[in-house]
Amino acid sequence: MREGYEGTGPGAITPDGCAVELYTRLSVGEEPDIISAAVPAGARILELGSGVGRVTHPLLERGFTVTAVDESAEMLERVRGARTICGPIEDLDLGETFDVVMLASFLVHAGDVEVRRGLLKTCARHVAEDGCVLIQREGPDYHTNVPRERLDPTGFTIRIVSAEPVGDGVDSIHAEYVFPDATWTQTFLARPLTKEQFEEALGEAGLRVDRYLTEDGVWVRAVKA
Ligand SMILES: C[S@@+](CC[C@H](N)C(=O)[O-])C[C@H]1O[C@@H](n2cnc3c(N)ncnc32)[C@H](O)[C@@H]1O
Repeated sequence: MREGYEGTGPGAITPDGCAVELYTRLSVGEEPDIISAAVPAGARILELGSGVGRVTHPLLERGFTVTAVDESAEMLERVRGARTICGPIEDLDLGETFDVVMLASFLVHAGDVEVRRGLLKTCARHVAEDGCVLIQREGPDYHTNVPRERLDPTGFTIRIVSAEPVGDGVDSIHAEYVFPDATWTQTFLARPLTKEQFEEALGEAGLRVDRYLTEDGVWVRAVKA
């Protein structure tokens, strides 16, 4: 388990506290539409932190080729139709480049600055000269609008219970996913980043924002600086 990260509930739990069975139950939202609109048809995509393939599978159905990376073998076992690579994203060096590198699920908010640097350098190392990196950031009120909860139309409740400062600009976030037959929790470290801090972090890795893809600034298309 990564320090500061924890998960509870049935089944396997990843080093960052995610529950494998929970992710098999979560449906996909607007992500494939946002991604498809921002990249060329048929692009070769490197998806970092793919989990069980919640987003991978719809991308494959749309004709993209996906290489899925995750440090959890139990997550990757559920991925179908994509090449899979098991290991920490920070250490990835495949010696090849991709049209698109995806770093979604707010991974860019890693509590440890060195981990964040490693993640973004992996993005820069694997993107083709004329390719792009798609990053999903937190919304501006993710850490302040707590507690909050949302009833998912598929019949479960997602609750962000607390966001407690633990020093050095990092918050410990506690989340609950309550289904009629099971409850999972995840506790993880997240570092809020203003737009300026985010853009500075990209710059350090040799990347720059090409454009914000969504009005809330959550999805970003970055390119080599
Ligand atoms: C919150 S889940 C999201 C999974 C998927 N992106 C989705 O949206 O369904 C995060 C995933 O990233 C993986 N992960 C987190 N940090 C990682 C790292 N530094 N290296 C490799 N995998 C990581 C976890 O194992 C987990 O499967």
